[in-house]
Amino acid sequence: MQEKARSMRKIFDRVLAQIKPTKEEIDEITLHTNELMLRLKKVVEKDIEIEVVGSTAHGTNLRGDTDIDIFMLFKKGTKREEMVEKALSYAKRIVRKKQHERYEIKYAEHPYTRIYLDDYNIKADIVPAIKIGSIEEMATAVDRSPLHVEFINRSLNEKQKDDVRLLKYLLKVHGIYGAETKTGGFSGYLCELLIYHYGSLENALEGLARIRLPVCLDPNRKVEIRDNALFDKFNSDFIVLDPIDPARNVAAGVSKESLARLSLIATIFLEKPSIGTFYGKGFSETEATSLIKSFIEKTGLHIYMIIVNVPDKSDEIIWPELRKISDNIVRASAQYGFSVYITLQWISRGKGAMVFIAPEQNLGSRIIKGPSAFQGEHALMFIKAHKNSYGFVVNGESIGAIEANKYKTLKALFDDVIRGRFGKHKDISFNKSKLFVDKIPKEYLENLCAELIRKISI
Ligand code: CTP
Ligand code: MG
Repeated sequence: MQEKARSMRKIFDRVLAQIKPTKEEIDEITLHTNELMLRLKKVVEKDIEIEVVGSTAHGTNLRGDTDIDIFMLFKKGTKREEMVEKALSYAKRIVRKKQHERYEIKYAEHPYTRIYLDDYNIKADIVPAIKIGSIEEMATAVDRSPLHVEFINRSLNEKQKDDVRLLKYLLKVHGIYGAETKTGGFSGYLCELLIYHYGSLENALEGLARIRLPVCLDPNRKVEIRDNALFDKFNSDFIVLDPIDPARNVAAGVSKESLARLSLIATIFLEKPSIGTFYGKGFSETEATSLIKSFIEKTGLHIYMIIVNVPDKSDEIIWPELRKISDNIVRASAQYGFSVYITLQWISRGKGAMVFIAPEQNLGSRIIKGPSAFQGEHALMFIKAHKNSYGFVVNGESIGAIEANKYKTLKALFDDVIRGRFGKHKDISFNKSKLFVDKIPKEYLENLCAELIRKISI
């Protein structure tokens, strides 16, 4: 066991050497942070405070991944509209176009400004919030962040902060870092809490490998709670309570699939700690084409890819819709008797892709499930409604009708999907949509490969 623990640390040290920001990098970030803060202080009203939050303030940021989070703290009672309007205008005023700086307005719980320092490959989010002393005063969701800085810096030591970096990196490599809907993964703050709760990365991996749902982790008391009232209250079976706000589930954005994935990654790594099991199966761009080819050859599966145009709206709006449409298509396919093994989605350059991977299926007929034979009237109604069918089967006690299938192949069904025969959607239309079967145009191969690897890489 000692041996295993030692080899695990060795791997962590090796990875850490690659991902921990160098002293020069930290100095450079500090310099830019201070400089931006100074610029802001010059333009804002006197009673607005400027503070750094997020991973650079926590000391848990990754190398070369520089996202500075600067908060503009307005005094309690400031109206939301006033706060947002002022914050956007202040942030805009500090951008220096001549020094290759530019900005974008981003939308989260409320709008904020992202400034890019292109010469230094740094981006800084300038976010307005209300300054609060305790959680009861919270007015907007982001108001908690300064309290997080205080909590993390008081609670994690340097080694634990490095463990956070390793956990974040592990999740990143496996495509489950980030709480956005698209990823459904683990946020930076959640990683910090997991390391705090379990004490170390080794313990966190042990805990996650053994995790049984439903569970609520309470990092404050470092205990696991199993209380149905909590699962009902948060409508979730994986809860991590925020130590500074017990009314918040920090793991709310984690999808069941991401948690399951992490649990498996931990199990596999703990069984045989190695650089290989840490990274999982990666791929290089040049391998993309041959990888897809060999996957198809070995499995005999077919790839159906539907490409739709997506409007220029936030991912948080488009993603859930794309996913819902994809789920609907899988459901419709099942109704016609087709099974789909794997689905993938992505959004890139104004296009949304939905991929369905399925075996060869040629279904001249389908079976429509009816009621129980013992439900006399219902059974009779079903039989009458399907009187033109080829026959009825009794499967156990339920009856069914075999009918000619409207779609003999998935391709035929998908052809109707792209003609818009399966309903309308709010932001995504099938107008000018395209279907590709197996022959995937070059421009989509890289995304396809990345998403496929993410799905099958365990
Ligand atoms: N935050 C949060 N919950 C989220 C996302 C963000 O509470 N789902 C808060 C946390 O206080 C966090 C801060 O917003 O410290 C900044 O978030 P973000 O920049 O998204 O993540 P970081 O923790 O800074 O990690 P990264 O290194 O990826 O920037
Ligand atoms: Mg950040």
